[in-house]
Amino acid sequence: MRVYVLNGPNLGRLGTRQPEVYGTTTYADLVELCQQTGRELGLEVVIRQTDAEHELLGWLHEAADLGACVVLNPAAWSHYSIAVRDACALLRAPLVEVHLSNIHAREAFRHHSVVSAVATGVICGLGVDGYRLALHHLAARAR
Ligand code: DQA
Repeated sequence: MRVYVLNGPNLGRLGTRQPEVYGTTTYADLVELCQQTGRELGLEVVIRQTDAEHELLGWLHEAADLGACVVLNPAAWSHYSIAVRDACALLRAPLVEVHLSNIHAREAFRHHSVVSAVATGVICGLGVDGYRLALHHLAARAR
């Protein structure tokens, strides 16, 4: 089973970006964590990051066309991109929205995600472990 792990803007800077909020794990470490978890679970993990909204929309369309599951950290787009939400609504397989930080414990503008209402579930505040847990959930669901 193929799972797309898609990451929005600024997540490529993990490790040096506000480590007190997002931790010290680098984006390269996150890629390795997801790929290792995928190998353990027998999943084909395709992990990508972009700072360009149209690119994320294209990847979501690809996942929708293939009927693939998605783990998505929409980053700042979570809070205002109706285009990202609409692309998520096209998905036919489960979508797990992940945030490294607890968005509800932060600034008010981060409390609402426009994506959450079309996600199967949401994990936030557990750091990179949220990605691992999301992959475990999707693998268990598929059995
Ligand atoms: C984030 C939270 C968002 O508010 C923020 O814009 C991000 C990362 C998280 O993973 O905690 O870029 O999605």
